Amino acid sequence: MKRLLACFLALSLLTGCSAGKNADKKVKIGVTVYDSYDTFISELMTNFNADVTSRENITIETYNANKSQTSQNKQVEDMINDGCDVICVNLVDRTAPKKIIDLARKNNVPIIFFNRELVEEDLQQWEGLYYVGADAEESGVMEGEIAADACKQDGADKNGDGMIQYIVLEGEAGHQDAIVRTEKSVNTLIQDGLSVDKITSAIANWNRSQAQTKMAQYITQYGSSIELVLGNNDDMSLGAIDAYKAAEIDQSDWPVIVGIDGTKAGLQAVENHEMVGTVYNDQKGQATAMANLAYALATGGSLDDLGLTDGKYIWLPYQKVTQDNVSDYLSDMQ
Ligand code: BGC
Repeated sequence: MKRLLACFLALSLLTGCSAGKNADKKVKIGVTVYDSYDTFISELMTNFNADVTSRENITIETYNANKSQTSQNKQVEDMINDGCDVICVNLVDRTAPKKIIDLARKNNVPIIFFNRELVEEDLQQWEGLYYVGADAEESGVMEGEIAADACKQDGADKNGDGMIQYIVLEGEAGHQDAIVRTEKSVNTLIQDGLSVDKITSAIANWNRSQAQTKMAQYITQYGSSIELVLGNNDDMSLGAIDAYKAAEIDQSDWPVIVGIDGTKAGLQAVENHEMVGTVYNDQKGQATAMANLAYALATGGSLDDLGLTDGKYIWLPYQKVTQDNVSDYLSDMQ
């Protein structure tokens, strides 16, 4: 008994989170991501791996679903057969979690969904289902606020028509962050008193090179009438910057460009004055929240101090990043 208690105390101190009655048992966590080449997801996973491997008695098994829901379902099945105590799932298709939920319930293995938010009815289907992520609406509003501040500066309205001509680079169709960020960022500009005029929008699937291709086309088509580029994420805003560079347009003639995520490259673009700002999608906080929750679930620990909302969700707030505070975020990167 004494030994058990000592173990428990040592682990609690080490992990900084509550371990339960099985605190000295070896814990196996499974993870499957929708696409390991996604910049934000790969940075989130770097943080998660660093957090988990700093704890004792935990092993981790990671899979790339490579954008196939069928492969991901099979990976979850394999991880259950391999004895994973808890599985973290970054759904490929956030509307198709049924197979995974059925497997989890049947085998009594809790699932922590993350980043790609399933609908609430699905999350309510079984008590062992959780979600870790950030509120899409908040990120859209913050992006709109950063853009509005920049567009009110002298010179942003290049043609002086009293309106801001803008382009939106959108993430995957059907992703909660793409739909909501687009709507909220534009609404916020309007609420902040700006007159806006949409030139066009394009789906670039969160992807830098797809965004560069689209933007190159728009630069040819619309030239200097583009005054603002709102990227649903940093990678697509960076793709827009790549297009301006490839077209050899002087930086002083670029539109206002804003992103979301605060990836390393995104933060560097803010630091270099290429983007006016970004919205930090707390990759570190989300990784720690997932690790704490996974550990507590696997060891039967208390969930009381993990910041759960409605016993199911852990929400990490977004943060605005501009020239004023970008160095704080860069110095905090892995
Ligand atoms: C991020 C994107 C990422 C997507 C993947 C979003 O929250 O902002 O950069 O590609 O999640 O699901």
